[in-house]
Amino acid sequence: MNDKKLFNDGFINLGKNFLNVSEIDNLIIQSKNLMKEAINNKDNLSNINISNNDFNDESIGSGGFALKRVDQHNSQISKILVKIFENTKINNLLEKYLGKNFKIHHVGIRKSSKNDKGLGLHQDGPGQMNLTILLDDNLNIYGSTVFLKNTHLIDARLDEIKLLTPPLFLKLYKFCLSYIRGHRGDICLFFNRTWHGRYPSNREESKHLILIGLHPEGTIYGSEFDDWYDDYYLEGLGNCAFRNRIDHKIGTIKVNDQVVRIQDSPSEKISLKLENPKKNNIENFSFVNLFYVMTAILIVYPARWIKKSKAIRFFFT
Ligand SMILES: [Fe+2]
Repeated sequence: MNDKKLFNDGFINLGKNFLNVSEIDNLIIQSKNLMKEAINNKDNLSNINISNNDFNDESIGSGGFALKRVDQHNSQISKILVKIFENTKINNLLEKYLGKNFKIHHVGIRKSSKNDKGLGLHQDGPGQMNLTILLDDNLNIYGSTVFLKNTHLIDARLDEIKLLTPPLFLKLYKFCLSYIRGHRGDICLFFNRTWHGRYPSNREESKHLILIGLHPEGTIYGSEFDDWYDDYYLEGLGNCAFRNRIDHKIGTIKVNDQVVRIQDSPSEKISLKLENPKKNNIENFSFVNLFYVMTAILIVYPARWIKKSKAIRFFFT
């Protein structure tokens, strides 16, 4: 599988050769119905056997919805995911980037509604990657995950240089941003180190996708805001590659009740190597990225200083 684009840009569309037409249609129907049901019952999720931790309303940005552990909530979605993670090409590619013991944490559906205000550019945990399945055609930027191409190769992290920005900046820098263009059923991959966010909706259409959070060997995952998969679901899956990836008790060392560390091995983990671009001599700073960083600093730093001095004045008067 040609993964050059993933390595260079920080994201890739692998296409739709991994599922047949009826599997794609079914995945889309089941996922959209499940999300609709969760939104309709968001004030009383226990009615539909969904835990409050599984549903994120607003926390991923106003107008965005995320539902986790969707495979446990729907057996047909689960069967399709078992097939994807049994695919040798996908498995080999993921093992190359994350190590042979990599784990799946979240399997979620994300909906960008017509009122989606977007989510500012950010990065996630070290070495983390995302496998996404498009549930709607993605032929424009609105409501899409957007990237500043090849920023995974920049040594500094956004939080280190204090450049986390609100979604408004996405509109300002629209011409700098890229998104994964593709059709329903396409499977895509990206590094969560690539500076990424979600572009606001154009108020005309909503967009759904499946987001699968992947963690490399040697790193930790889990949090107080996430529930582990239930044993009845894991046992029902039997002995398959997907179960070994999602069961937090397999191939991990317990850190505490909510966090585990993935067992390490000598295998190569490209996604973790990217956490130290300078050391690996692959630093890459394009003119678009340089323009973004310089101008964003010129806006963000003084704005933060004005806000701070106003607060200080308020405090002393
Ligand atoms: Fe993210």
